[in-house]
Amino acid sequence: MAITPLMPVYPRCGVRPVRGEGCHLIGEDGTRYLDMAAGIAVNALGHGHPHLVKAIAEQAATLMHVSNLYGSPQGEALAERIVANSFADTVFFTNSGTEAVECAIKTARRFHFAEGNPQRHTIITFENAFHGRTMGAISATNQSKMRDGFEPLLPGFAYAPFNDLAAALALIDDETAGFMVETIQGEGGVSVATPEFIQGLRRVCDEHGLLLILDEVQCGYGRTGKMWAYEHYGIEPDIMPIAKGIGGGFPLGACLATERAAKGMVIGTHGSTYGGNPLAMAAGQAVLDVMLEDGFLAQVEAMGERLRGGLEQLIPNHDHVFEGVRGRGLMLGLKLKAGVEPRDFVAHARDNHQLLLVAAGGNVVRILPPLVIDERHVVECLDKLATAARVYVPAADD
Ligand SMILES: Cc1ncc(COP(=O)(O)O)c(C=O)c1O
Repeated sequence: MAITPLMPVYPRCGVRPVRGEGCHLIGEDGTRYLDMAAGIAVNALGHGHPHLVKAIAEQAATLMHVSNLYGSPQGEALAERIVANSFADTVFFTNSGTEAVECAIKTARRFHFAEGNPQRHTIITFENAFHGRTMGAISATNQSKMRDGFEPLLPGFAYAPFNDLAAALALIDDETAGFMVETIQGEGGVSVATPEFIQGLRRVCDEHGLLLILDEVQCGYGRTGKMWAYEHYGIEPDIMPIAKGIGGGFPLGACLATERAAKGMVIGTHGSTYGGNPLAMAAGQAVLDVMLEDGFLAQVEAMGERLRGGLEQLIPNHDHVFEGVRGRGLMLGLKLKAGVEPRDFVAHARDNHQLLLVAAGGNVVRILPPLVIDERHVVECLDKLATAARVYVPAADD
């Protein structure tokens, strides 16, 4: 048999982490890495955060899982806290980002159904979007690398160029349900939506009775230095899938919605065996305890500015590799020079300089550290990046 027991869908590298300590990962062979990837924007509190570890351990010993057929004091408490700190009136808990996106799509379709307009089912999404790997989520992107071979996909999606308001408006017809957009595209290359674009989509939704879904699975939950990325735009969405940082490493996602947008989500319309179980809720509470502490988000913003400033200084000295910095807060992208392959540079930084980064589309390398980094980690990251760039020789084209 040639296939590996672990289904070979990932290009796994040689790093085999067995332990995490704060902002560092330790490999099977004892090598210590600076983790500027954080499980792809997941380990918001770093590795082994004592408050999160204790909360999970205590809850595991008390009550791990019960079905959603019973009352959920744990789910109610976390949902109330998220509602109190966001635009939302209601929350559905999931185990991942893609399930949160599925719930968002279903919520939008059910809204129009409940309004007596079931024909309004099409969601306009954007080029280079990434919303996850379920059938609904891959139908919501036009990226062929995620879709090929999985057709027929879910009907009811149309695609416009990102940050092109006029093109998005041109796609609206009698079947349009709304828009779904990442406030900052992550996997697509750390592309920040412009204020005109997001505010324009909001305005058009209000004018046409459409719904605005902001996918903040990657850019939400403190990553940009505000609790939610939409806060940078002075608007609010109707529906918002979130995940990643919300469990700090414990699998947890959520779909947030206003009361109006969720009007079709009545008993029996949606569900999940594990979603919102007591163990996940304990992890979610522990992350929020830390994130809502005075000064936490200000520190994310400050570290984001510090790191960005350092990267900007680095670029002119290494302009054979780097072209520019993009992003917001601690969701940063280094745009590489044409001809420098992100995966190749990520491998070089990892294997030769023990620095963990993540490749993205658009010739960009993502820097997505734990939100708890301090000055020492910033300096370590900049030092490693500078050394890595200095000795980097782009892989020869073949
Ligand atoms: C914006 C966005 N949406 C959805 C997802 C899917 O999340 P998950 O991998 O947890 O299913 C991701 C994952 O990277 C994402 O970045």
